[in-house]
Amino acid sequence: MKKDFKRILVTSALPYANGPSHIGRLTGAYLPADIYVRYQRMMKRDVVYICGSDEHGVPITIQAEKEGVTPQQLVDRYNAMIQDEFFKMGISFDHYSRTSSLIHRETAQEFFLDLLGKAILRKKPEMQWYDEAAKMYLSDRYVEGTCPICQNADARGDQCEKCGTYLNQMQLINPRSKVSGSTPVAKETTHWYMPLGDFQPELEKWIESKTHWKDNVINYCKGWFTQKLADRAITRDLDWGVPLPKQDNNRKPIEGVDGKVLYVWFEAVLGYISSTKEWAQKIGNPGKWKEYWQQDDTKLVHFIGKDNIVFHAIMFPAIMMAYNKNKSVDRFVLVSEIPACEFLNLEGAKLSTSRNYAVWVKDYLEKFPPDPLRYTLTSNLPENKDSDFSWKDFQAKNNNELADILGNFVNRSLAFTIKNFDGRVPAPGAFSVMDNDMLNEIHRAQIEVGECIENFKFRDACRRFMDLARNANKYFNDSEPWKTLKSDRAKCQNTLYVSVQVVKALAVIMHPFMPFTSEKAWKMLNMKEQVVGQNWNQVSENRVSAGHILGDVEILFTKIEDDMILRETNALNQITENKESDGSKPSKMQPLSNPIAIDDFTKVDMRSATVLQCEKIDGTSKLLKLQLDLGGEKRQVVSGLAEYYKPDELIGKQVIVVANLKPAKIRGVESNGMILTVGDGQNVKILVPENLIASGAKVS
Ligand code: 2FM
Ligand code: ZN
Repeated sequence: MKKDFKRILVTSALPYANGPSHIGRLTGAYLPADIYVRYQRMMKRDVVYICGSDEHGVPITIQAEKEGVTPQQLVDRYNAMIQDEFFKMGISFDHYSRTSSLIHRETAQEFFLDLLGKAILRKKPEMQWYDEAAKMYLSDRYVEGTCPICQNADARGDQCEKCGTYLNQMQLINPRSKVSGSTPVAKETTHWYMPLGDFQPELEKWIESKTHWKDNVINYCKGWFTQKLADRAITRDLDWGVPLPKQDNNRKPIEGVDGKVLYVWFEAVLGYISSTKEWAQKIGNPGKWKEYWQQDDTKLVHFIGKDNIVFHAIMFPAIMMAYNKNKSVDRFVLVSEIPACEFLNLEGAKLSTSRNYAVWVKDYLEKFPPDPLRYTLTSNLPENKDSDFSWKDFQAKNNNELADILGNFVNRSLAFTIKNFDGRVPAPGAFSVMDNDMLNEIHRAQIEVGECIENFKFRDACRRFMDLARNANKYFNDSEPWKTLKSDRAKCQNTLYVSVQVVKALAVIMHPFMPFTSEKAWKMLNMKEQVVGQNWNQVSENRVSAGHILGDVEILFTKIEDDMILRETNALNQITENKESDGSKPSKMQPLSNPIAIDDFTKVDMRSATVLQCEKIDGTSKLLKLQLDLGGEKRQVVSGLAEYYKPDELIGKQVIVVANLKPAKIRGVESNGMILTVGDGQNVKILVPENLIASGAKVS
């Protein structure tokens, strides 16, 4: 941290309160932020960690309609659920607020009025899609259509998720209303616009100074700057949201505000401020929020996912620049750091809440403790490119790293000491080179892990932490205390004294990554003070004294058996197999079936056959009835090929048939065999011999 920063204000993107959390959400904006904050607290820095639920906007109203509840009921439910999930995962906000709070409404309205009063906002009529059946303007996600950039047929009114372009809804080709399904008409409506273009020179200059920012953020902004930033409407024709104030700062009525609310993205970013205000009230010092927002020696850090970059690197800073205009006091700081994460995939495919293709935090916590997930996600964070979570990797990280390396070292060191030294830390004598090396390694690890966290390199930090445990195990093995216990007791005492110091250091250094396990290890050490109160910089100096009585030893990590993992992967595979109506099935190889013996395979008698006749079965859309020549005999077979082949296309073709399948009736039609096909979920093709071969020839 640069010396000139006196305090740190950390924010995590305010999650929409429209559904439970999955691991993708956790990975982007919360887990790295929590690690960062926990570390800064142990560095004894002045840090405040702010978040809250994003409770407005079309993502909320659409979900409320889907669930048949009011938006208020929806956000009440999910706000509570999300908070509970965060709490159980150890995300340690100083304050978690809600954008439906009064303090937020007032804060957002104040910003709107300030910008209005300075004539920064532009009020103008523009065409918008209007649903005549539902009698409403179709804000944001209420309208869908074809993206003019990538031709994705399901682009939303605010953004095309496929190519990432932020759209003006009037650009959509073939728009359709999500409300009534009808084709909307273009109709004029008046809104207030934020003239982002007016701030472009200032924004560009400011971004240019951020030479240390991640490439993903810088490149994204530069992409926007290549075209002149357009005016962005910051109001909407909706009845759910922060209503526009009725009067301006001179108490004059504002024309045309009825039925309009602030655009969710305009007010959600201001939620960081209102949440900090609420935190200041909570700690009994209502004015304290100003220190964090209005003193330029604050380091403001926004943890977000990459889909939120434009709002945090352009929109929010532009709002702040606009608010700061003509002000010499009460000026707001601009963001210092935006460590935006890329996306986390799941088992090689895109996470999808609509298809339920996700690992839900709630479900996870019913089966496993939080820390192995925190560790697995951290060691594989999508810091610079998309990364992948797989259950196999989770199992490997838990069993081979957490249990076999970290847990094993902590357990064997403490158990051995308790057993052979009466539960007390033995007194050391003169240290050997190896002992000193190990003690120095604590110091190196503390510095290096800290540097990585400071620079938002959480994967490296996590790896370096595990290296400390790995080195400690090696030290323990090489020192052979089970031998020296008898042959050289003084050396044995040194080994165990040093090992206990490493356990203590591990408990402190692991705290940002795995706070629950850190507490557990701390309890095993039987330390008086709290582990959260430890000073990171003194981790190698503050030693456990000789003679200190250790606590009871517990297992830190339980191994995860194959069947638990299989259950999870099977559940996901089930979802990928059930092709959903949106057609965006993850493209990945289908899971292999269980292995079979060669005897099982040879039981299946497959033959070549020639299609003599073929016709559709009346009343079905998928079934064909085929007459086959199987060499010595004729066969009738029913096959679900009608979606992929016209009957005429198959007549005369050779196919491969399972010839010894028991006859069955399909839709009342006898079927005596099965035609082999190969399919990838989208396409199905018949299997054919490479060249013509006698009908009835055996496949082997
Ligand atoms: O993408 C989202 O989930 C948004 N609710 C994030 C908002 S971040 C900030 F602006 F509040
Ligand atoms: Zn697109």
